[in-house]
Amino acid sequence: MIEIKDVTKIYNGGKAGEVKALDDVSLTIEDGEFVAVTGESGSGKSTLLNLIGALDAPTQGKIYVGGQDISGFSEEQAAKFRRENVGFVFQGFYLEESFSVLVNVEIPLILRGADEKEREARAREMLEKFDLADKAEAMPAQLSGGQMQRVCIARALAGGAKLVLADEPTGNLDSVSGSAVIDVFRKLAEEGVTIVMVTHNKEFAARCDRIIELKDGRVQ
Ligand SMILES: Nc1ncnc2c1ncn2[C@@H]1O[C@H](COP(=O)(O)OP(=O)(O)O)[C@@H](O)[C@H]1O
Ligand SMILES: [Mg+2]
Repeated sequence: MIEIKDVTKIYNGGKAGEVKALDDVSLTIEDGEFVAVTGESGSGKSTLLNLIGALDAPTQGKIYVGGQDISGFSEEQAAKFRRENVGFVFQGFYLEESFSVLVNVEIPLILRGADEKEREARAREMLEKFDLADKAEAMPAQLSGGQMQRVCIARALAGGAKLVLADEPTGNLDSVSGSAVIDVFRKLAEEGVTIVMVTHNKEFAARCDRIIELKDGRVQ
């Protein structure tokens, strides 16, 4: 379970002054819930995801993930938490272009110090799960956008993450490929993975368990 309690995030924007990106947000997200985060550009969606994923810390308030207070983490604790618990998926695919699909999916396992055999077996299992077994030896540039995004999801989960944070994951995809990504997330949620997805697509948001709408840093 993710508990966000009275969270405010203020950025010090230099000349632009202070920006209150999140304003006293409180939310609970259950394990295995597939949640859409919507709202206009600048409403605080990415900030919310970054805080849940311990990429950044709140200015005020607390965030608990699985009962653990992540809001006061040191850099080192945050890095360990991300490595062990969180899979990030972005709009741009950020695959390592010079590595095969298989090696890309192995990256979180390399970071966790898994041995070579275990890494390869796990990565192949993930590729199988996302219908990409025949692409293991391909290079990212040889894949379609939808396939690349599925590789990113496979990579996000290869390390055993139970929480996926996806920031406009279908933003660069045609509607058929985007819909396939939503299918994958639905299936994962049924397996108990928690998914928090920022999206502008109303149809995809409607396929989530719940929609959280942000406006000027506040939950509507
Ligand atoms: N690193 C940052 N420094 C200063 N201001 C930021 C930073 N990141 C985001 N902001 C500001 O915080 C607000 C919320 O941004 P963001 O969470 O990225 O919104 P969204 O993802 O909904 O478009 C915006 O006004 C944005 O300009
Ligand atoms: Mg954003």
